[in-house]
Amino acid sequence: MAAPLLQKNSTLPILLYHTPRYPLNRPFTGHSYFRTKSFSLLNSSKMEAAEITEEVERKPAGEDMSSKKKIFVAVATGSTGKRIVEQLLAKGFAVKAAVRDLDKAKTALSHENPALQMVKADVTEGSVKLAEAIGDDSEAVICATGFRPGWDLFAPWKVDNFGTVNLVEACSKVSVNRFILISSILVNGAAMGQIFNPAYIFLNVFGFTLVAKLQAEQYIRKSGINYTIIRPGGLRNDPPSGNVVMEPEDTLYQGTISRDQVAEVAVQALAYPEASYKVVEIVSSPNAPKRSYQDLFGSIRQK
Ligand SMILES: NC(=O)c1ccc[n+]([C@@H]2O[C@H](COP(=O)([O-])OP(=O)(O)OC[C@H]3O[C@@H](n4cnc5c(N)ncnc54)[C@H](OP(=O)(O)O)[C@@H]3O)[C@@H](O)[C@H]2O)c1
Repeated sequence: MAAPLLQKNSTLPILLYHTPRYPLNRPFTGHSYFRTKSFSLLNSSKMEAAEITEEVERKPAGEDMSSKKKIFVAVATGSTGKRIVEQLLAKGFAVKAAVRDLDKAKTALSHENPALQMVKADVTEGSVKLAEAIGDDSEAVICATGFRPGWDLFAPWKVDNFGTVNLVEACSKVSVNRFILISSILVNGAAMGQIFNPAYIFLNVFGFTLVAKLQAEQYIRKSGINYTIIRPGGLRNDPPSGNVVMEPEDTLYQGTISRDQVAEVAVQALAYPEASYKVVEIVSSPNAPKRSYQDLFGSIRQK
């Protein structure tokens, strides 16, 4: 989901995700939020790659992340979905990349990789078609869909609520029992006392987007499927500039995170049983300690 009326990569959604720390009667001066520790991107990415390898090697007994069936990713042309596909392929997974537009997908993704299969899927078209797309060769589904802003005011409801529900129903039709959803912090903002949080207001003004996501989450949690619901803060396209902070549901109401890290959390959730049946909220911070994903997921107590 990109912020309506804004360019997708505009900084405004990120600003909105930051504003609550400021009293509402004071002008917002967001500059301090954008201060990041400056360090070499090269060193940073080298370090992260090394650590990922180590974590993947410490996979749970009996769990081989790469030798199993395919991971179905909905959808692979999204800014986060694309990163999820790339990271899965890099780790040796076979990927079934669901897309709405195959031509767009061929330019967005390197379709030369034999481990990558592209299938057409629109989450609003119902669970029967989605079940066909998922097929009998997918082991888990990762959902990173979000409505595209347009004239249809019901689009958030159709995509972020019913579309996700359709995917979960499709999973049950083809006996897929692992579902990972990219949702958002603040989906339960009203219950958190964040009803006046500008981000909560802004994202709900356009089609009750956060409410739609919360409805889908509630469906997933009641469905019985083995889920991990990942609620990131404001998404950034730039590379990670800090470590992942992971908190239980309804905790975080501000902060941002690189889409690369969101994709990494989704992929790592496949490896650790500690991620099962959990809702986790994530942002990144240059001041946070580097922790293993087993430790991060393991530290979350599900309500
Ligand atoms: N933006 C933020 O700051 C922020 C913060 C927290 C959470 N989130 C959430 O994180 C998730 C990923 O965000 P993002 O910015 O990476 O997403 P994105 O780039 O906007 O991608 C959304 C994807 O959803 C797809 N989609 C839309 N309608 C669909 C349909 N009917 N059937 C199938 N696919 C459909 C789009 O397909 P096409 O490529 O074909 O258009 C697009 O690829 C979203 O759920 C978003 O709400 C965003």
